[in-house]
Amino acid sequence: MTRTVCIVHHSGFGHTARQAAAVADGVREVDHVECVELTVEDLTDADAHGWRTLDHATAIVFGSPTYMGSASAAMKRFMELTSERWLEQKWANKIAAGFTNSGSQNGDKQNVLFEFVTLAAQHGMVWVGLGLLPGNNSSGGSPADLNRLGSSLGAMAQSDIDQGPDDCPPESDLETARHLGRRVAQFAHGWSAP
Ligand SMILES: Cc1cc2nc3c(=O)[nH]c(=O)nc-3n(C[C@H](O)[C@H](O)[C@H](O)COP(=O)(O)O)c2cc1C
Repeated sequence: MTRTVCIVHHSGFGHTARQAAAVADGVREVDHVECVELTVEDLTDADAHGWRTLDHATAIVFGSPTYMGSASAAMKRFMELTSERWLEQKWANKIAAGFTNSGSQNGDKQNVLFEFVTLAAQHGMVWVGLGLLPGNNSSGGSPADLNRLGSSLGAMAQSDIDQGPDDCPPESDLETARHLGRRVAQFAHGWSAP
């Protein structure tokens, strides 16, 4: 049976979109799992087809740039629109995961992942974390390490603010995003909701 992993993200300038594409690449590495990529712009209308895709997905991965230490306003708008689903607990027992990208190494981006964890919990979803030890945290480490930003809750990426999305986030962050996609897809493949 084929399972669907949906990735829904916002990206103002294309950097988080590259991270989202890497998550999708990871999902597609897993057999019997299909990946559907949506942007929040696809979901501004409550009747948009994308909502039904989300309703039927086994897993939903949320992604946003970090703007002012929070998910972007466009992402927050989408999060609020999900309240219709929340009322019916329509997404209960789906798998959830998340990713974020910011300009600074820290940039308060963990807060975005907390926002996604809270969103998922309100919906009764089951959160899947990154499942990687931190990289780049020892004398032998390097910024090329997987999970170089040392996240646990989800995938983090950092994009220099004077570079465009063709140049960042770096490959280590994209590989970390691929790892998250693969991991979510592996869980989705074997998922049996209670
Ligand atoms: C309105 C705004 C607020 C931002 N706030 C933060 C912030 O709180 N922390 C940070 O590290 N970077 C911040 N940034 C930088 C973005 O996170 C960074 O440029 C990111 O790569 C943008 O991703 P995008 O191209 O997908 O929009 C901000 C950028 C904008 C436009």
